[in-house]
Amino acid sequence: MADAYAERTFIMVKPDGVQRGLVGKIIKRFEQKGFKLVAMKFMWASEELLSKHYSDLSSRPFFPGLVKYMASGPVVPMVWEGLDAVKTGRFILGATNPKDSNPGTIRGDLCIQVGRNIIHGSDAVESANKEINLWFTEKELVSWPRTVDSWVYGEN
Ligand code: RTP
Ligand code: MG
Repeated sequence: MADAYAERTFIMVKPDGVQRGLVGKIIKRFEQKGFKLVAMKFMWASEELLSKHYSDLSSRPFFPGLVKYMASGPVVPMVWEGLDAVKTGRFILGATNPKDSNPGTIRGDLCIQVGRNIIHGSDAVESANKEINLWFTEKELVSWPRTVDSWVYGEN
């Protein structure tokens, strides 16, 4: 399979997504699309880890509230793999503010408020790699052959 099919993105169900029972629904959208699950866990993240995760936003006025929100309950960090996984992942999520997210996207369909927008997704390949290495060890990233790939990508 081509290297382009191995692009990885970091996706995470936020505490409100977990509390509202949306984990399965969110995973299903990535799974049904054809992306391949490479890593996933369920954990209550520390403010320290979350501050590192959102370090690019540390000067923004909403940063302290964002870290508190993200540390307010368990989250489900995941890595999904496939062609254009980062860009397509962002389309599947929808715009940051749910008032601007198109219907059919996760945020467009399942939330209302920007500060409670249920899911995170990497915004570039570079940030995806940074986030994947922050949340997962090398051992937790599972490379596995998937027989259906030839049907997903048409190389059969
Ligand atoms: P994320 O990183 O969580 O996937 O979200 P994003 O790229 O779409 O947006 P980003 O600019 O990275 O913002 C990160 C998260 O901060 C919260 N936020 N609150 N109160 C506000 O104006 C505001 N703006 C952003 C959101 O939870 C957003 O997803
Ligand atoms: Mg972001």
